Amino acid sequence: MAVDLLLGLQWGDEGKGKIVDVLTSNYNIIARFQGGPNAGHTLVFNGLKHVLHTIPSGIFHENAKNLVGNGVVIDPVIFKKELDKLDSQGVDYKKSLIISRKAHLILPTHRLLDAASEASKGKAKIGSTLKGIGPTYMDKTGRNGIRIGDLEMENWKQKYRNLANKHQSMISFYDVDLQYDLEELESEFFEAVKILKSLEFIDSEEYLHQAEKANKSVLAEGAQGSLLDIDFGTYPFVTSSNTTAAGACTGLGISPGSVQEVFGIFKAYTTRVGSGPFPTELFDENGKTMARIGCEFGATTGRPRRCGWLDLVALRYACQVNGVTQLMMMKADVLSGFKTLKICTSYNYKGEVIEHLPYNIDSENVEPIYTEFEGWSEDLTAMEKDSSLPVSLINYIEFLENELKIPIKIVSVGPDRKQTIFR
Ligand code: IMP
Repeated sequence: MAVDLLLGLQWGDEGKGKIVDVLTSNYNIIARFQGGPNAGHTLVFNGLKHVLHTIPSGIFHENAKNLVGNGVVIDPVIFKKELDKLDSQGVDYKKSLIISRKAHLILPTHRLLDAASEASKGKAKIGSTLKGIGPTYMDKTGRNGIRIGDLEMENWKQKYRNLANKHQSMISFYDVDLQYDLEELESEFFEAVKILKSLEFIDSEEYLHQAEKANKSVLAEGAQGSLLDIDFGTYPFVTSSNTTAAGACTGLGISPGSVQEVFGIFKAYTTRVGSGPFPTELFDENGKTMARIGCEFGATTGRPRRCGWLDLVALRYACQVNGVTQLMMMKADVLSGFKTLKICTSYNYKGEVIEHLPYNIDSENVEPIYTEFEGWSEDLTAMEKDSSLPVSLINYIEFLENELKIPIKIVSVGPDRKQTIFR
């Protein structure tokens, strides 16, 4: 079995969903390995926009199996909403969508705990999507979680009640005024669990093991981005899972030896949603233009994304941590019209010029050092071939390839499937 990984190299929202959708016809299985409904993967084709949160981005292709792996956390309520949307579009997912028994469940009280924890932090809040991600992974590593496989056991509701009761005492421990109607939340939750149980639950590591024997191909779809990784991201302003390559092994039960290509996805500039350091963030007209042209609003929360120049120091770090073999540059079209573009090539870190990502990238420690590039004015969105791209953009691409020593194989020039240039 060949497993290729597809990962975001920045702070998420790089456009992974679009590329998974574009590449799905080359694979038998598309597998999500971490994260949960904090993700918002946007796909555009046939004039329609689709946003997926937990369901893998291969779901619109008839022949691919879509696996929600053991490393994912699932909120039945949001999952049901995703299924309802697919139903309304006539997508037949019953046979193609499979769920690992070892994936953990997000309970209504996990969401409440997330809200209470964030509210108690005041200005130091993470800027979480409030989907219950952190509390659910805490219960997983604390060995208290409820897994999909538990739903097949008779006593699962008792297990649920014990955990929800514990969560309620924890919520009251926070000194915040959180209004909620648990009965209402639970009735919605139990309804959604019924729908979830109509899907196929599997021992996914065994499934992938058999797929390996049968020589099937797998694309492992990452969520969020490398700089949000619980270990390697800008802690504590991160998510609660390993978003980097190693997370695919633990989140699916595949061996490192079966991984072949590692596709690293990055935007031609940088965005971040939520709190945390962002050395190349722009507060001027350039930042506003990127946000406007790039429609930089979160697909999950609708929050405006912070925008800035491309940070090569951070990108280099992400390529190293993930072992990226091929790069894909997204949203090149958004940079059309900028007279001059900048790439941060090193940091002035406490008076010293460095090229690696240090432990602390808070603005008082780090000042970005930029290389300037001539911009381009051409509209890229209808371009189909590498040879049509403006010379200034080719220079921008080749500069990155030379610096990173990794080829940029795809340049995306718009949200639609078709607006994808292979190099
Ligand atoms: P959480 O994972 O919802 O707890 O959020 C933690 C941090 O990760 C916050 O800054 C979020 O804005 C960010 N985050 C989580 N998921 C995504 C995503 O899919 N795209 C971009 N940022 C995300």
